[in-house]
Amino acid sequence: MSVTSPPAIAGGTPIREQPLPYGRHQLEEADIVSVVAAMRSGTLTGGAAIADFEHALAARCKVGHAVAVANGSVALDLAVLALGIGPGDEVITTPLTFVATANAVLRIGAIPVFADIGDDRCLDPESVARAVTPRTKAVITVDYSGLPSDVAALKAAMPRRLPVIADGAHSLGASQGGRPAGSLADITTLSFHPVKQITTGEGGACLTADAVIADRIRKLRNHGMTSTADERVGGLWKYDVTMLGDNHRLTALQAALGTSQLRRLDDVVAERSEIADRYDAMLADIPGIRVPPRPAGRRSAWHLYPIEIDPDAFGCERDSVIDALRAEGIEATLHYPAVHLLSLYRERGGVPGTAPRAERLCERLVTLPLYPAMSASDQDDVVLALRRIHAWAAARAVTS
Ligand SMILES: Cc1ncc(COP(=O)(O)O)c(C=O)c1O
Repeated sequence: MSVTSPPAIAGGTPIREQPLPYGRHQLEEADIVSVVAAMRSGTLTGGAAIADFEHALAARCKVGHAVAVANGSVALDLAVLALGIGPGDEVITTPLTFVATANAVLRIGAIPVFADIGDDRCLDPESVARAVTPRTKAVITVDYSGLPSDVAALKAAMPRRLPVIADGAHSLGASQGGRPAGSLADITTLSFHPVKQITTGEGGACLTADAVIADRIRKLRNHGMTSTADERVGGLWKYDVTMLGDNHRLTALQAALGTSQLRRLDDVVAERSEIADRYDAMLADIPGIRVPPRPAGRRSAWHLYPIEIDPDAFGCERDSVIDALRAEGIEATLHYPAVHLLSLYRERGGVPGTAPRAERLCERLVTLPLYPAMSASDQDDVVLALRRIHAWAAARAVTS
């Protein structure tokens, strides 16, 4: 099959017989052994497995405290609650994210204020500074696609001191100036969903250097109780409840999987980086494709590889590129539609023009497959498909 063969969307033979997903978890025998050992330990929730996972996470991210929770969305909820944010408060965030980021603000009756992104696709410090009002209580930046946000630049641009939460669902294993993602913001939240760098099936964590915030998050994860079941032993059976929490705990089985997966994090990020480097090189000569930014001093964890399509130079709009890739058996996708333009947010005042750079990019992004077990031949298929779609689209653009 050559570049000039008709693409599958125009009746040609699809490049792939087996669909290629955009992301996929990786489980090894050591993970299974670790989970089985947890099952045999007699403790299915709480206990040493949770503490071990939290210590390993904190050590890897060079941060004082890690609190493991049920998923990355809950991690955001608890981070916002732990900062004492409540109804009517404003929290500045980005439209270029999964909806969970802004939902954490909305859920507690606070107001998400959408600032624009910069060249790095993370929040633009100047845009954030302009969005600060007397009601602003925090900023939630998103380490989009695995690139850590420049938190120091955000803080420097702000007219007054405000806490910064980094939604690091994409960035475990990334770094800035040698400092790991997770140690850069006041609170960093993680997700261990299966497509992420490490997985616990579902799962998440909050990372912070602040012992008071960590303690609050621990209590919120456990119904606001003053002690955990592990601590209520012997004569210490009484407890009080000092805040409105819930059950947001991770199980010991998930924690055991997380600890095992975390041991391979550096290898996983190295493999992801290699695939990203190869994409950069292979896509360089296709007109109308811009590869992800690589700002100096920051190393991405390459959770995602989202390219930007310039419709005029490539020959067709982004939606057609995704449709055509999917017809070839390549499960390209979009991360993300601009959050403030989703129906839920439009009903709350979200309008086009709020964040022009993010809105434009959200119309042009295509996430290409990237995961460690992906082979060079899988990657060749993706690039061949893009070349073929471009050749077909460009020819049609000329004749129409
Ligand atoms: C940027 C971002 N924030 C938050 C989340 C929520 O994480 P979880 O799916 O673990 O709830 C995700 C999940 O994909 C995400 O990509």
